[in-house]
Amino acid sequence: MRVLVIGAQGQLGADLCRELADAEVHRADLDGDGHLLDIRGAETVRQLIADAVKPDWVFNCAAAHNVPRCEEEPEMAFSVNAAGARNVAIACHAAGSRLIQVSTDYVFGSGGTRPFVETDLPAPLNVYAASKLAGEHLVAAECPNHLIIRTAALYGMAPCRAKGGRNFVDTMLHLAATRPEVKVVTDEISTPTYTRALARQMRLLAERAEPGLYHATCQGACSWFDFARAIFEETGTAVNVVPAMAAEFQSLVKRPAYSALDNRHARDQALDVMPYWRDALRDYLAERREKA
Ligand SMILES: NC(=O)c1ccc[n+]([C@@H]2O[C@H](COP(=O)([O-])OP(=O)(O)OC[C@H]3O[C@@H](n4cnc5c(N)ncnc54)[C@H](OP(=O)(O)O)[C@@H]3O)[C@@H](O)[C@H]2O)c1
Repeated sequence: MRVLVIGAQGQLGADLCRELADAEVHRADLDGDGHLLDIRGAETVRQLIADAVKPDWVFNCAAAHNVPRCEEEPEMAFSVNAAGARNVAIACHAAGSRLIQVSTDYVFGSGGTRPFVETDLPAPLNVYAASKLAGEHLVAAECPNHLIIRTAALYGMAPCRAKGGRNFVDTMLHLAATRPEVKVVTDEISTPTYTRALARQMRLLAERAEPGLYHATCQGACSWFDFARAIFEETGTAVNVVPAMAAEFQSLVKRPAYSALDNRHARDQALDVMPYWRDALRDYLAERREKA
């Protein structure tokens, strides 16, 4: 099995490389230690995928997902998340590769009251989400053998490249170490998802799932406030966690108040192996302790 992981240095890409360690894994990044690749260049992408590597599977984890920056630079966001994804899809179709494209819960807009299923209508609220949704459509149009996998609120052992390195768990533990109380929003609900569990799920889907759109997050849902409290409880960190409303934090970006996903398509094929979010958090914290 030959596999290409694009965005291999990122949090998810790094765990996919670990998960696929028994395969012939080719890594690609903007500035990593594998193939240097900018997915905005159609010809470079075609050469790497269709002429050089000719992989069985391509995992495209590359994204511009610094959400405020996408809002300020929409051309940049669309060039990576939409046109770049299209370049990868065209090359995969030419090479006969299965493309596994990563997308986001943010494609859903306001008004959600129960976990979104794959047949619910997206309604993006910000540029990042619109560019990722455009990427989904372009991938589906150009590469019939695709899996589009929407996930949410990722954290993992590798640094989040687009967000300056720190994931939410790192940020909470850092804040708790430097101040007596931490304010966290209660009115944004999603599902924190450990990239190691997601990488396992993605491999299984790549091996067995029919082409199409899949939701893949940990099970359950919680607010960022609930997640922060769980992090402090699980690590025995003494800090006062203060509930806050999203409107108290100045932001130019609109975000969905509720974007939990239901992994229905995978579950219907008996392929949903995602753990409950708090169990995944415990696994992640155990791995951090082992590596410390
Ligand atoms: N993080 C989240 O909370 C979250 C939530 C929902 C969905 N997602 C989606 O999950 C996927 C993986 O996210 P992540 O958190 O693992 O991201 P990440 O840590 O920021 O990694 C992104 C990777 O993409 C690479 N990249 C960026 N622009 C590129 C380009 N033009 N050409 C080639 N490579 C490029 C980066 O390369 P360098 O390492 O060289 O910079 C980096 O390795 C993305 O599709 C994202 O939209 C993320």
